[in-house]
Amino acid sequence: MLNIALPKGRLGEKVYAMFEAAGYECPSIKENNRKLIFENTEKQVCYFWVKPSDVAIYVERGAADIGVAGKDILLEYSPDVYELLDLNLGKCRMAVAAPKEFDDDGEKTLKVATKFTNIAAKYYAGIGREIDIIKLNGSIEIAPILKLSDVIVDIVETGTTLKENNLEVKNTIVPISARLIANKASFKFKGSDIENIVNSIKTQVKNND
Ligand code: PRP
Repeated sequence: MLNIALPKGRLGEKVYAMFEAAGYECPSIKENNRKLIFENTEKQVCYFWVKPSDVAIYVERGAADIGVAGKDILLEYSPDVYELLDLNLGKCRMAVAAPKEFDDDGEKTLKVATKFTNIAAKYYAGIGREIDIIKLNGSIEIAPILKLSDVIVDIVETGTTLKENNLEVKNTIVPISARLIANKASFKFKGSDIENIVNSIKTQVKNND
């Protein structure tokens, strides 16, 4: 049996559709929206829905053999897992954004509000800019409006949230998409099962382009 952690929500549904089309269906998953664990003994798969930001924890610790996590989470937390495949889903980017009129003259320490403190720290260290990081847990876009920060580092998908709050992208840090990840020990001991599933899923990735 292969344990598979899927990110709960809209992305997770798309991800499950890929597994289903790849031949690893589990029909009961569509019948119940409160249950979190679903098994198909015939296909030897067990799916469970977890919070998207927790997928990598389940996989790293071996509670799941494989899972699907955003590249943002992998970059931020550097879990000790194998990244096997870019699913080409959940595409967005990690960006620096600020009010339109803001122009960084580089004189004062830059105040950066973000959920992604490691990504932000690494990015600014890379360009040699001194910053003061303000860790927030959501609604990051409010920070520069209320002068809590000068800029934000956050995920931009359609750009609507920025636009609605009079902010704009100043720099793109990195493109983001959903990745298939595997536990290192599982990859060793269930290698052929994981390889089979990855190869089948690969044929579905092309269809997303
Ligand atoms: C994410 C992100 C932005 C928004 C970007 O927020 O933090 O706020 O989506 O999407 P857009 O470019 O399509 O508008 P999320 O919904 O994950 O909530 P959060 O406030 O908890 O970060």
